[in-house]
Amino acid sequence: MEYDVRDKSLAPKGKLRIQWAEGNMPVLSMIAQRFRKERPLDGVKISACLHVTTETANLMRTLKAGGAEVRLCASNPLSTQDDVAASLVVDHGISVFAKRGIDSSGYYEHIRAALSFSPNITMDDGADLVSTLHSEMKNMIAGVIGGTEETTTGVIRLRSMAREGALSYPIIAVNDAMTKHLFDNRYGTGQSTIDGILRATNALLAGSKVVIAGYGWCGRGLAARARGMGANVIVTEVDPLKALEAVMEGFTVLPMDEAARIGDIFITVTGNTSVIRREHFETMKDGAIVANSGHFNVEIDLDELEKMKKSKQVVRDNVEEYVVDGGRRIRVLGEGRLINLAAAEGHPATVMDMSFANQALCIEHLVKAGRHMKPGVYGVPEEIDSSVASLKLKALGVKIDTLTEKQRKYLASWKAGT
Ligand code: ADE
Repeated sequence: MEYDVRDKSLAPKGKLRIQWAEGNMPVLSMIAQRFRKERPLDGVKISACLHVTTETANLMRTLKAGGAEVRLCASNPLSTQDDVAASLVVDHGISVFAKRGIDSSGYYEHIRAALSFSPNITMDDGADLVSTLHSEMKNMIAGVIGGTEETTTGVIRLRSMAREGALSYPIIAVNDAMTKHLFDNRYGTGQSTIDGILRATNALLAGSKVVIAGYGWCGRGLAARARGMGANVIVTEVDPLKALEAVMEGFTVLPMDEAARIGDIFITVTGNTSVIRREHFETMKDGAIVANSGHFNVEIDLDELEKMKKSKQVVRDNVEEYVVDGGRRIRVLGEGRLINLAAAEGHPATVMDMSFANQALCIEHLVKAGRHMKPGVYGVPEEIDSSVASLKLKALGVKIDTLTEKQRKYLASWKAGT
């Protein structure tokens, strides 16, 4: 078995942490149990590019239980949990190519290694695997039935590939399932981003001015959680509808130019580039903390901050302090990479349970139906989305009502009015 991990002796710690996460992933566990019996993925080769966490480990185990041969690489150079990577290799016999803190060339080498066994299915988080396959490893495309994409940024990239006619097979946008983005993006990013910032800085949120750039599902969750901890939340947006929603939620909405002067903690979750840039660094207060929780490390223009700096030093794990003109200190967390995975453990297993249940069921769907689907980006089939919601409620012990016959007829009729 091929693999490249940091240190196999970390496996026992990883094994326990994977088990701990499994305890909070009841929906995925039910799917794994069925997969073990039915083996719907027998003989299927899957290349997965995901954050190598305890939750991802349980998804990989589920796919293996279904009969798949899996190769896993990391979807970010700073998100790999080395103990998990070790345990997947040692305890679960899964090929992993991932090391925390790897440089860019090593990162892409790992992606190529994960692809090099000619996969039938691709699983991606950010679309680096798919773009590598379509640019450098085109000879592997013929054997691919289909793929899945986990995150908003990846879906945007894939839609752009599809628009240009550059996408060669069908990919299901798992991110777009209701049972994914309404929970993972909102509650997962909301909590884990704050977790990362607090672990890195031990800052007090109560009374501080937290500037959140972007009011999509991640921004909404983050703003709600920061407010819950007593922060004065300022939202920046480019979309009038989202800005209006933030206003009605009671948040202060400002352009970044104005927010930059007053914020204590800045967090970007826009999915766009250069959201915090030179003109903003120029007016930030001494001690300002700057973090990103969007998929790529492009939201904070660190190249410009590098040019502005008088000096720089690591002052705590995951905190680099840049000194700029007038001796002002700007503290950048986790090299501007997604802070929830760089400084904390990513989303809790309870939400990843639903995201990864969607992943497993979409892979099963692609193995059955992918050959009849044209290249393009597809939504998650509605039956999958609603079955994940039902299974999650069941696991949580929550019962709900069912429509009576009278209610069903009422909803189907246009005749009944006032
Ligand atoms: N993305 C965000 N949190 C994650 C986690 N815990 N595992 C995998 N991918 C993630």
